[in-house]
Amino acid sequence: MKVAVFSCKPYDKRTLNEFIADKDLEMNFFESRLSEETVSLVKGFDAVSCFVNDDVNAKVIQQLKQQGVNTIALRCAGFNNVDLAAAKQQGVSVFHVPDYSPTSVAEHAVALIMALNRKTHRAYHRVKEGNFALEGLLGFNLEGKTVGCIGTGRIGAAFCHIMKGFGCRVICYDIYPSDTLIEMGCAYVSLNELYQQSDIISLHCPLTESTHHLIDNQSLSKMKDGVMIINTSRGALVHAQEAIDALYSGKIGYLGLDVYEQENKIFFEDMSSHIIQDSVFQLMLTFPNVVVTGHQGYFTDVALNHIAQTTVENLEQSQQTNPQQRRLA
Ligand code: NAI
Repeated sequence: MKVAVFSCKPYDKRTLNEFIADKDLEMNFFESRLSEETVSLVKGFDAVSCFVNDDVNAKVIQQLKQQGVNTIALRCAGFNNVDLAAAKQQGVSVFHVPDYSPTSVAEHAVALIMALNRKTHRAYHRVKEGNFALEGLLGFNLEGKTVGCIGTGRIGAAFCHIMKGFGCRVICYDIYPSDTLIEMGCAYVSLNELYQQSDIISLHCPLTESTHHLIDNQSLSKMKDGVMIINTSRGALVHAQEAIDALYSGKIGYLGLDVYEQENKIFFEDMSSHIIQDSVFQLMLTFPNVVVTGHQGYFTDVALNHIAQTTVENLEQSQQTNPQQRRLA
């Protein structure tokens, strides 16, 4: 089986190569993303492997099918960038990696909370310049604070578990509440109650039509003044311009983002010598109470190995007559 691996960085290549050593799989690695512009590269391949910002729309899927590609193996959990209906219609199987390491993303959400609260990003620069003054670095105790978790699947559950360990009151919203979390002492509330009561809100639901711009003027107006918002899920859960307005007014007191709606133009690349053509993003970076990371929540040793291993398993499974596991379409 010949596989074209898109959005492939050196660390992806290293781990994938480890797992295909004794397999009947040949992989060709492309740094570029899969899109309408690059889909012609798939000529002669049986399968493609993609990541979070590849644009696997209906046109791309049609082209894949025409070129003889019958399998898309995503190297991520989220699949909002793939037109699953089009894949089903064309008979192209789509696989994902649902649970490569929920704790890696949950721990990163907590890292953002800790950095914003104790202002580690600012303290680091002060100390490097010999400035040991504490004025402006005042934090708060997490113990006793109310933390709202929206989406309590694999990552959300791991996040709640950690925040309980800090002694926080954890309240949750999910369309499918988890008995395990209730037993752990988390309380499910309505979305409005979560907005009203939370000191910190962390987003762990997928990007769907109903969660698009979940954090906007309307939801923000229901929240406490100075609320901390953490988004490690998908960028479009947050309306970036309205979040900026809320930062100016003080409604948002702290903003931690590992994802950004327009991230596909900038993330995963070294843009340090370029002028980033996104004034909203540039403005966001100027706030002292905003920490942005470039979609690195998943990026741990354990997660990379799981992603590579599961992707190889998915590709092998796709050759079976009726593969079901981790199949989306
Ligand atoms: P999951 O499928 O285990 O959990 C998602 C949860 O969200 C489910 O419990 C579901 O019922 C709930 N949900 C769905 N629609 C909802 C709504 N409208 N309101 C509230 N809850 C809703 O997914 P998992 O593995 O926990 O991942 C969550 C998200 O994290 C993914 O969709 C992905 O976007 C993001 N992610 C980010 C990564 C990063 O590196 N920053 C890496 C991996 C995933």
